[in-house]
Amino acid sequence: MGNRGIFKGRSIAVVNDLSRDEQLYLYRKTAELKEKYLRGEDCGEFKLNDPDFSVYLMFLENSTRTKESFRNAALFHNVRMNNFDASTSSFKKAESFSDTVKMLYGYSRNSIFILRTPEEGVCRALDEELGDYARKLGWDKPGFINGGDGKHEHPTQEFLDEFSFLEQKKWDNSRIHIVLTGDLYHGRTVHSKTDGLGIFKEVKVDLVAPPELALPDYYEDRMVRNGFQVRKFSSIEEYLNQKDVADIWYFTRLQLERMGDKILDKAETLRESVTFQKRFMDLLPEGCRFYHPLPRHREHPVIPSFLDRTPLNGWDEQSINGYYTRIVEIAMVGGKIGDDFTGSHLPGAVPPEDYIVDVPVTRKSRIQDRYKVGIKPVDEGIVIDHIAVGESIEEIWDQINRIRHILKLNYRSSHGVFHTSDPTRFKGIISLPDILTLEQKDIKKLAAVSPGCTLNFIKDQSVERKYRLHMPPRIYNFEEISCKNENCISHPLGHQHINTLFTREGESFVCHYCQKKYTFKEIWNR
Ligand code: CP
Repeated sequence: MGNRGIFKGRSIAVVNDLSRDEQLYLYRKTAELKEKYLRGEDCGEFKLNDPDFSVYLMFLENSTRTKESFRNAALFHNVRMNNFDASTSSFKKAESFSDTVKMLYGYSRNSIFILRTPEEGVCRALDEELGDYARKLGWDKPGFINGGDGKHEHPTQEFLDEFSFLEQKKWDNSRIHIVLTGDLYHGRTVHSKTDGLGIFKEVKVDLVAPPELALPDYYEDRMVRNGFQVRKFSSIEEYLNQKDVADIWYFTRLQLERMGDKILDKAETLRESVTFQKRFMDLLPEGCRFYHPLPRHREHPVIPSFLDRTPLNGWDEQSINGYYTRIVEIAMVGGKIGDDFTGSHLPGAVPPEDYIVDVPVTRKSRIQDRYKVGIKPVDEGIVIDHIAVGESIEEIWDQINRIRHILKLNYRSSHGVFHTSDPTRFKGIISLPDILTLEQKDIKKLAAVSPGCTLNFIKDQSVERKYRLHMPPRIYNFEEISCKNENCISHPLGHQHINTLFTREGESFVCHYCQKKYTFKEIWNR
């Protein structure tokens, strides 16, 4: 039976939920479908054709293209198409996403859900919640497709964008040179490019936006980490004043209404810096194409209407491609296609729990020698050393206080700020006499609240064992941590009962749901 159904029940919350090979498979299948469809040939191999299969549309924010292309794609498949009306449902009575979707799943069983929400990370959370629920019922897990969540991601838009670029480049994915311009700060379709452009072997990205609308550092850093060459310009005019101009331009709508009054005062100037003008026409390279996820603002379009009937117009075909790519996405997640997939499935392996590193004790140093200045020597117990080494004295005290508070170290003990072996640098020490062990969860908290510190187990006045702690690869379910993004599905004030989870990315923690990036100091509740 081959691989048929290998994608069934998969969720697409972010672009990387499909591996690079899986994304390329999606584009190949879409090209096959589009060709057959336009030739009027039989497209039955792509159709689910199952009256018991449901596609649930849950659009809690306005949409034309995403909702209508998915609705028409569901009709293509001859499946049940349910349009969830949040405005007349008990969702209005503050029901959680999880409770609501459990009901819908219970009534439709074999289903996929396509959601657009102002909250970020909803599909990831539902995929995990409903996965557990489906296991309990012994049913097939439903798939979830993100149709845009807050200012986080819009993966299916990304897939239709990349399909359109590949079409334009006649399926050559060896390199792409692209301009991203407009509101790079809010534009979730731009954020999704961070991973989506990775189907090209060589990527050069020119970010064109004034600082107020610039791409958040998190996405720019990620582009660099993904091996993209990134250049930055503050306006289209400045960009076109140099010679190396891209032949693919991606514009996005300005979402100035989301910004404060201070920005609104500058609206005119900001808009002008990312709006294409007639006088720029001669500065474009041959064969250049413009793309836009749409909608365009009818009064202040960044691609003015005089361009609509020119060969620069790639955005009309791009929006139509949404229909074909979404038919194929439903065919994949619904289990209809996949038997001819031969590539690799990524998905993100959890890094090993390597955050506790044994430090050999080279000499049985007498504790009086090592922890004597201002701290009572410990005969037996634990010493947390090297806290915030090299930071300011104020920061070291803050970190000592944070450790004491988070680990609830309310015992007879002492602490302080001391010189390191270098008299110009300081560190914190907490000494816990007669405390012989720490629970694993407390060691994990300590590693996350004070990475770089050492944990010394003292016996007979000597350091018996010593460990250096680093940021854990994952930290979750602790009541002391939370994502601070109020739009995140896991934010405590949303009352969606989604447990906090951060994963380590470089020197940062990233929210598992909305992917907001934090320093290790920022994840704690105080
Ligand atoms: N591109 C896009 O997401 O359009 P809609 O908001 O109309 O769905």
